[in-house]
Amino acid sequence: MYNQKVMDYFLKPINMGDMPDADGVGEVGNVVCGDVMHLFIRVGKNPAGKEVIADVKFKTLGCVAAIATSSIATELAKGKTLEQAMAMTNQDVVRELGGLPPVKVHCSVLAVDALKMAIYDYLKKQGRPIPEKLEKEAQRIRKDTENAEAHTHPHVE
Ligand code: FES
Repeated sequence: MYNQKVMDYFLKPINMGDMPDADGVGEVGNVVCGDVMHLFIRVGKNPAGKEVIADVKFKTLGCVAAIATSSIATELAKGKTLEQAMAMTNQDVVRELGGLPPVKVHCSVLAVDALKMAIYDYLKKQGRPIPEKLEKEAQRIRKDTENAEAHTHPHVE
């Protein structure tokens, strides 16, 4: 069902774990299956003085595809500016993995949504303005998360 790259990232996940002193935390639920993800970011500055994702970790209660996509999404996000990280899509992640079975594409939404919510949380904690696009996405993600919480966990692999 899954290609070798997906299996490799699932079997040897990258950036999985906790970050107790994170600068921003994103928590999202998957509206399709009810699975949950936490993603933590530490923000630093690149040599040009721009804020970048200096470190990122995730924890998920999700399937093979959720773990593999989170691994690769966090790998892709590291070093990106906040603007670049906010612009990442789940299609970028799926493409990087060499594709997912169509029924599992919804799993790839978790990581990018959690990344956006972690950036949102960071900006909020800093008392900074939230870009309009991010505010809209955050509203959509919160609604999905509420719906996900009403879900059971079918957990189809
Ligand atoms: S994230 Fe729930 S089935 Fe994949």
